[in-house]
Formats: sequence, structure tokens, C-alpha cells
Amino acid sequence: MARPVKVGVLGAGIVGSGVISVLARKGDRIAQTLGARIEVSRILVRDVTRQRDASIHRGLLTTDAEAILDDPEIAVVVELLGGEEPARTYIERALSAGKHVVTANKEVIAKHGYELLQIADRHRVNLFFEASVGGGIPIIRVVRRDLVANDISQIQAIINGTTNFILTAMADGREYADALAEAQRLGYAEADPRNDVEATDAAYKLSILTTLAFRADVRPERIHRIGITDLAEKDFRYASEMGYVVRLVATARLVDGVIEANVHPTLLPRDHHLASVNGVFNAVLIDGDEVDKLVLYGRGAGAQPTSSAVLADLCAIVADIVAGVAQRVDFPATSPPVRAFGETTARFYLRLSVADEPGVLAQIARALGDSGISIASCIQKESDEEARVAEIVIMTHTARQSAMTEALQKILHLSCTRQVSASIRVDR
Ligand SMILES: NC(=O)c1ccc[n+]([C@@H]2O[C@H](COP(=O)([O-])OP(=O)(O)OC[C@H]3O[C@@H](n4cnc5c(N)ncnc54)[C@H](OP(=O)(O)O)[C@@H]3O)[C@@H](O)[C@H]2O)c1
Repeated sequence: MARPVKVGVLGAGIVGSGVISVLARKGDRIAQTLGARIEVSRILVRDVTRQRDASIHRGLLTTDAEAILDDPEIAVVVELLGGEEPARTYIERALSAGKHVVTANKEVIAKHGYELLQIADRHRVNLFFEASVGGGIPIIRVVRRDLVANDISQIQAIINGTTNFILTAMADGREYADALAEAQRLGYAEADPRNDVEATDAAYKLSILTTLAFRADVRPERIHRIGITDLAEKDFRYASEMGYVVRLVATARLVDGVIEANVHPTLLPRDHHLASVNGVFNAVLIDGDEVDKLVLYGRGAGAQPTSSAVLADLCAIVADIVAGVAQRVDFPATSPPVRAFGETTARFYLRLSVADEPGVLAQIARALGDSGISIASCIQKESDEEARVAEIVIMTHTARQSAMTEALQKILHLSCTRQVSASIRVDR
């Protein structure tokens, strides 16, 4: 009989139920592999009377967190509550009590991971968080361990399945509100979708990846984010005509020793590694000096893929317990400069509604030129002869973000301008 390792699970929702269900179905095989049986001995929930998956024994449920955090027999705590509190406090208490912790909580790791890793280090226990970024994609361990021989210069990622589903639907001709409603109907978007569509979720995940890739403490507030709520279906059509797709891309790069970390809608050339990532799928593209380009692709959410990542962490911890290995926790030591968003550069796609009359293009070109921005191409798309309004799409050469913001202000104040309808960054 393999020896038991007792585990307390905080939360039995989508992911918690998924983890417990896999252990019920595959516990024997996992025990054979590890030489130890993972035994779920307590499960924290809010409501013990709620109907749950058949694999969850009602007798294990508790609403008392102390029953897990104060139980000396429990060696590992798996935190799957979500939200900042009480999850952060419970993780801290578990680590301080000498328990290893596995969590899928991107918000807690992005905001407090640095301090929590230090606490884990002091108590010589592990804090693993593979499921916090990219659902089932094994990205954290790859960056932390497998790419240790590399200097990483850039990470680009599609790390929010909800927004990627909406953007893929918009590329198929749906307007934003319609695509969001469809995502909500299918359970891909929450009733309050702001965390996803305003790019907060992606910023948490990018904060974690940036911190690990560059061994630097880059909290979410240092990441500039632009959501997808202002995008129009038209821009997907025009982008496609020019050979691009529109995606919410999280990018972290090291340029001249300064970190740039931003999340925003981006026009990607159709042959870009991330351009064919559709629907709820996620992908991460890493540039390492030894490995060159590496792409990881998979399901970024859902009970089963996320459980796969949580169990990978849990099994790694149990394997160390069996081997009697005390883990050395590595945490970033530096707080490097992060380039302000206005100082970053990009090419830009602009869509403007302007008066349909001679001399307008010259005025727009002058406004851009005064801010040091040159036009790469300009196409007149549609015109409403009655209203004497034309729609133009401009692609610029590389320009500083602050220069573009300044130029758009000038363009807005031109008498010929009816509307600045879109300004989207284009991948380099
Ligand atoms: N869902 C995904 O696809 C996915 C993907 C990647 C990462 N994650 C992360 O995984 C974590 C869990 O997500 P989820 O989707 O499984 O959440 P969920 O379905 O809302 O489940 C949360 C669970 O925690 C319990 N809970 C919440 N607050 C509690 C409290 N204060 N005291 C006691 N129990 C409490 C709930 O109890 P009741 O059941 O009694 O309400 C429920 O069982 C989150 O950090 C999330 O970001 C989720």
C-alpha cells in the first residue's frame, strides 16, 4: 500500500470539483507513479448543502478553514477559492504552518506572490501556481525550470480565452455586444465580464510571466492594459484585407535593460505564431537566446485542463515529500525599470471619419507629421456622399505611443475630422 499524503482543498467549484474528480478516477495510477497516495482529507466550501459532483464525499466538506489550516496531518493545501481574500490569508497561514501550497489564483500570485514566495522560502515549503496562467498549458514550470539556460528577451501571449473567443467571433462578422452575449450564453464569459474584457485578468497573468521570465518584481499596476470593449467588427474586416488578425496580446520584453509589459488589442500579421489561435484557446510564444522561439498552445480554462495543471503541481510536491527533498524556492530579487507605456513604440492602424472634401488627407498627414509620425499607407474605405463623410484607414510607420496620443488630439480638433473611430497597435 502506497503511504498517504493528506491534502486539504480550499474550494470545490469548477476547478476544485475537477481536481477531486480526477483523483477519484485516477488516484490508483497516480499513487503507483508517485509511491504515495494523495488523500483529500478536508474540503472547504461556503455551503455544505449544495449539490456537488458525485466524487465529493459530503462528510469531507467543511465551512471552517481552521479545520484544514490547523490540522498538523495535512501536508499540502490546494487553494481553489478565487479572489484576493480570504485566499491570500489562507495561503499565508498554510505556508507559515509548514504546509506546501498549490494555487490556481492569478490575482493573489500577481499581487502578493513575491511576499508569499519569501514566506514559503522561510518555512522551506513549496508554493506552486501552474494553473494561474494559461489553464492547462504547462507554462510556469517551463519558464521557471525548463528554460533556466536561457536569457528570455520576449514573451507574447494570448492568455484570456474569453476575449479570444469574442475576438474570433468578431472576425467572423459579429459585433462586440453580440459576440459577448454568445460567450456568456456558452459559459465562457461571466455575467459581469469586466475582469476579462478590460484585460485585468490578462494583466495579472502577464505580471506573473514577466516576474518569472525576467526575475523581476513587476506587479499588475505596472502593466498598462487596454481592453477590447471599443473594438468594432469593421476593423477586423479591414485588418483582414491588409493581412492581419486582431487579438488581445499580452507582451513582455526586455529592451536595453528596461522592461516593457503591456496588454492591448494588437494587429498580428497572419503568419505570426499567435495569429491562428482561435476561440477559447491560449498560446504563449517565448523567445529565448538558446532555445530560440518556443510556442505553447492549449486550453486556457475549464475544469479539466485547469485540474491537469493543479495536479501537476500537487504530484510534484508529493514526489518531493516521498523523496524527502526540501525545495529551494526562487523568487525575483530585483525591481527593474519598467518603460512607461507612452515611451513604447509601435506601428499604428487608424480608422478616421473625415469630411469628404479636397485637402483632408494633407491636413491629417500634417497633424501626424508634426508629431514625427509618417504614414506607411492610406486607404479610403467608404464614403457617405449625402453626408459628405469618408472613412479612411491609415497604417503608420513605427512611432512613440505618446506621439500618437498627441497627434490624435490634434486630429480630433481639425475641422475636417468627424470621429477618430479606432487606433490599434500593430505588431512589430
Ligand atoms: N474556472 C476556470 O476555468 C479557471 C481556470 C484557471 C484558473 N482558475 C482559478 O481557479 C480558482 C477557482 O476558480 P473556480 O472557477 O473553480 O471558482 P468557483 O467555481 O467560483 O468555485 C469557488 C469555490 O470556492 C468556495 N469558496 C469561495 N469563497 C469561499 C469562502 N470565503 N469560504 C469558503 N469557501 C469559499 C466556493 O464554495 P461554494 O461551492 O459553497 O460556493 C466554491 O466551492 C480561481 O482562482 C480561478 O481564477 C479557474
